[in-house]
Amino acid sequence: MLPPAYPARVGRAIRRCLLIGSIFVGCSDGPGPVQTAKPDAHSTWGIIQTKIFAGQCVSCHTAGASFGRQSGLVLTPDVAYEQLVGAAPTNAAARADGLMRVSAIGQGMPGLLKSYLWEKINAPDQEHFYGDHLYYGEIMPFGGEPLTNGELAFIRAWIEAGAPEIGHVADPALLEDESRYEVPEFKPLAEPENGVQLHLPPFEIQPNSEREFFVVHPLNNEDDVFLERVQISMKSGSHHFLLYTFQDDIPPERLPAPYEYRELHNGAGEYVLTTVLTQFYHLPIAGSQWPFFDFSLPPGVAMRLPKNTVLDLNSHYVNRTSQPATGEVYTNLHFADPSEVEHEARLFSLNNFSISLPAGEVTTLEKDFTFSERTHVVQLVSHAHQLMVEFRAEMIGGVRDGELIYVAYDWEHPPLLKFDPPLVLERGEGFRLETTYDNWTDQEVNFGLLSTDEMMILFGFYYEE
Ligand code: HEC
Repeated sequence: MLPPAYPARVGRAIRRCLLIGSIFVGCSDGPGPVQTAKPDAHSTWGIIQTKIFAGQCVSCHTAGASFGRQSGLVLTPDVAYEQLVGAAPTNAAARADGLMRVSAIGQGMPGLLKSYLWEKINAPDQEHFYGDHLYYGEIMPFGGEPLTNGELAFIRAWIEAGAPEIGHVADPALLEDESRYEVPEFKPLAEPENGVQLHLPPFEIQPNSEREFFVVHPLNNEDDVFLERVQISMKSGSHHFLLYTFQDDIPPERLPAPYEYRELHNGAGEYVLTTVLTQFYHLPIAGSQWPFFDFSLPPGVAMRLPKNTVLDLNSHYVNRTSQPATGEVYTNLHFADPSEVEHEARLFSLNNFSISLPAGEVTTLEKDFTFSERTHVVQLVSHAHQLMVEFRAEMIGGVRDGELIYVAYDWEHPPLLKFDPPLVLERGEGFRLETTYDNWTDQEVNFGLLSTDEMMILFGFYYEE
């Protein structure tokens, strides 16, 4: 969920088109699911059909029904498996993004991120769905109540396991959770007992437009403080909100004036260079694409904010209506009692500076990073620019050697992955970063800060013993 830090829209559109080609190549030599055994009603796939699809989907997704024709998707038991698994979506935007209706690659996150079905039913993430994917249609079941959280967890486990036609890969007890996602009502947060509240008061977003801005809030803290929890509440329509601090080496003249709204785009939709330049010195602290966010570090763990910390608040709203919309954001920073802090959470950035991408080629770069002390990782998020098509991190060493731990396919919105309990790396263990770039330009691209340069960073919050 990190930001479109150095965006370049024109480039993105071009890259998409090229990508379609490479994805089709990828699909044709990928291994399809080869399971022909008769489905069993008690298998995971059997349960999905009888307990979820039969009552909530099949009425529309039937051959000959007008909704069936419109969606091109039939979910009756005779064909549902072939219609979903390894099948390309009818929806053109999802197809261009390289999604399958259900991807059979499994491996946890990769399978999920490549499956359009998951995007279509994952109601709890609907701000992301409607905000980022304007052409993905509606959340399913169309016009109905969202699936229960139990049903979603069950389908998710099935997709993460590679969507097999036979066998048991999801615990039926998950279905006992009958709670459903409800759109949270926007409300101001109560002031934290020990901490600070940051408020972006109501601001306007013009009809049919986006607005993204940054605004500096100095904390004016006389002593170091220890951040243990962040809460964010925002009015609906938000694309994302991010909280940054600045790197120590930011030249003083680049540090923006407090409380001044720095728009990312001018009235003509062009980037405002002075705003873009400050982004290069950002260090991410927290962020959310959800209207309500509440993240706590594990007990006894907190992040030190040195005295006179300067924060940069970044809000991005998308207004697809013909009326002006209003945004508003509350952020609570909760501070720990310093005497109760046993471990300081710090930010690491595993940064590969040696990047050189030949023009017109797809290049995969690899770099290993190991830790010299036992490290507890609580959060990971990747960072790259517009040529990135895949960012992977695998474990090095220990029993999980080679295991894929993080993956992102979208440079603008890499997932922010939390670990609770923390992911423990023993001394000498680490991460292998593997990033694939499609350099569709006619220039060699190297490491650099500008949107036309590239980066390869894995950010993480961690603490040592
Ligand atoms: C009231 C009718 C209706 C119901 C009920 C319904 N759908 Fe849909 N579905 C549609 C329509 C219409 C479309 C095409 C428009 C769109 O994608 O928003 C569609 C599209 C889809 C697509 C995208 C197909 C593609 O390849 O583009 C998926 C996946 C899907 N539905 C899954 C489901 C699932 C799973 C359920 C049950 C949980 C469900 N639908 C219930 C009407 C329905």
